[in-house]
Amino acid sequence: MTQRINHIAIAVEDLDKALGFWQDSLGLRAHRESVPEQQVDTAVLPLGEGAIELIQPVDADSGVARFLAKRGPGIHHICIEVDDIRSALADLKGRGVRLIDEAPRQRADGRLYAFVHPQSAQGVLVELYQLMTASG
Ligand code: CO
Repeated sequence: MTQRINHIAIAVEDLDKALGFWQDSLGLRAHRESVPEQQVDTAVLPLGEGAIELIQPVDADSGVARFLAKRGPGIHHICIEVDDIRSALADLKGRGVRLIDEAPRQRADGRLYAFVHPQSAQGVLVELYQLMTASG
């Protein structure tokens, strides 16, 4: 199974301010994306084969807003890309890993994603991505 880091997501209070470092100082290039189902606006900054993803809540009740209120800005999750997310989730479940999403959710662009509970990952929220539908 091919696996790589797709993105590292950083929770921020203000995308424009955060881009002052990540784009202006560090020299990465950002494109903006809204993710209404996660109640966030994002700035994606490609870096190597992956990306840094800045996420700013647009709703005070969202998970990211609660994260910021509790812990302040910082790394929110790490996203690992897999070939077949359904088999990855079934395998993890079989190993007793606690999952937030037992079945993948789908973004508007077709990407499949699911979250693993931080309790099973040393306090780190882990997101799994499958970019394309597995063949066969
Ligand atoms: Co993510």
